[in-house]
Amino acid sequence: MRFLGFIVLIIVVAGSFGCGQNAANKKTSDANGASPVSSIKNRNSSYDAGKLVYDRNCKVCHQVNRMGMPKVYPPLKNTERTNGDKDFLIEVVLNGLSGEVVVEGVKYNGVMASYRNLTDQQIADVLNYIRSDGEAADDLVTADEVQQKR
Ligand code: HEC
Repeated sequence: MRFLGFIVLIIVVAGSFGCGQNAANKKTSDANGASPVSSIKNRNSSYDAGKLVYDRNCKVCHQVNRMGMPKVYPPLKNTERTNGDKDFLIEVVLNGLSGEVVVEGVKYNGVMASYRNLTDQQIADVLNYIRSDGEAADDLVTADEVQQKR
């Protein structure tokens, strides 16, 4: 009988220890789970996230320094358009662009594919990254603005 009581005690102690562990794990995963969902409102964190999107998707043509290649890929650094209308920039990323365009006095007549497979937040971030040098730097593109154009 005393032996059985001892076993029960072990089970109770082990059980409550296990529950304690579970509760602790749950708390950690909640905390981790919340961060990617929260939208990026801060200019610097949007810039960092946007640089990652740029390096993965845009750099191959528009180049690491965002200066493009004259007559082939337009520059995306401190140009009239990167500092200009957000709607135009959102539309280019969502729908692509083709036909003749003149960027900073140089003619381009190429084809850029759509990047609508990126999330609204990724598109907002990459545009904030390419707008980060000029007078529009503080006029952030938001995920909501991208969503409205989809
Ligand atoms: C395969 C090459 C290629 C890739 C990759 C690419 N682009 Fe382009 N992009 C172009 C070309 C070519 C044009 C000019 C199209 C034309 O001549 O009509 C262009 C034009 C643009 C323009 C318009 C510039 C202006 O001043 O009118 C923007 C904005 C732009 N790209 C952003 C991006 C972003 C952001 C990414 C990554 C998500 C990206 N591009 C990826 C080739 C590319």
